Amino acid sequence: MSVHHDVKRVTTHVLAEMKLKGEKISMLTGYDYSMARILDNSGIDVILVGDSASNVMAGHETTLPITLNQMIYHASSVVRGAQRALVVVDLPFGTYQGNSLEALNSAIRIMKETGAGAIKIEGGAEIKESVERILSAGIPVMGHLGLTPQSIHKFGTYVVRAKEEAEAQKLIEDAHLLEEIGCFAIVLEKIPAKLAAQVAQEVRIPIIGIGAGSGVDGQVLVLHDMLGITQEFSPRFLRRYHNLYDEIKGAVQSYIHDVKSKDFPNAKEQY
Ligand code: KIV
Repeated sequence: MSVHHDVKRVTTHVLAEMKLKGEKISMLTGYDYSMARILDNSGIDVILVGDSASNVMAGHETTLPITLNQMIYHASSVVRGAQRALVVVDLPFGTYQGNSLEALNSAIRIMKETGAGAIKIEGGAEIKESVERILSAGIPVMGHLGLTPQSIHKFGTYVVRAKEEAEAQKLIEDAHLLEEIGCFAIVLEKIPAKLAAQVAQEVRIPIIGIGAGSGVDGQVLVLHDMLGITQEFSPRFLRRYHNLYDEIKGAVQSYIHDVKSKDFPNAKEQY
């Protein structure tokens, strides 16, 4: 029996075991109770309450505007819908950089007020102190390297990261550092597949990729992208499993038609 099928609740230890056994980890983003229930009942291993909520739920251009209170609202909704999956919550921009005490307080608020199982945080050596302080409180931390969207104004573009030797070398060092200080997993976003595979081989903790190829220990996608609810975003790494935008639009148009034509409600649909 696979680890995935065996467990009643996915923990950080379960993910470690999955890596050991070569069993791939499935992760998707989730932001609300109803979707979390569907994801959880489908058997997803990890639900990431990503700060991509800023884009897909709130319509912002970047992940920077979302607040800690808003992340807590999304995360507590997701936790109520997830019985089995590990729920991981992004620390939003401005709640951990440059101040490890603020980082700890932000992480504690997330754990206390949402019931989630872990937090995720973007960056390497530059946020070491914050990660260590959060870990010292017994809070599991998932790292995030490569394209880190909270730094989009520094990068200036969403192109593939770490193609140059120097950036690739720093990424490898950061991954080792995050492992050494105690992170339980790392997300690698939009980097060359060869580099991601090398990192996954060199570190013992699970590496979850998005746009990082198949040589890693698991995959994550933004739910609204893989379901085809968002339309304008079409990077090469994205596989769309549905065209929900058109499906929902079609259903809504049918409803409008039925209301206008007085077909809805019919005699059986009233009291
Ligand atoms: O916020 C998010 O959705 C993420 C994933 C892209 C990994 O961080």
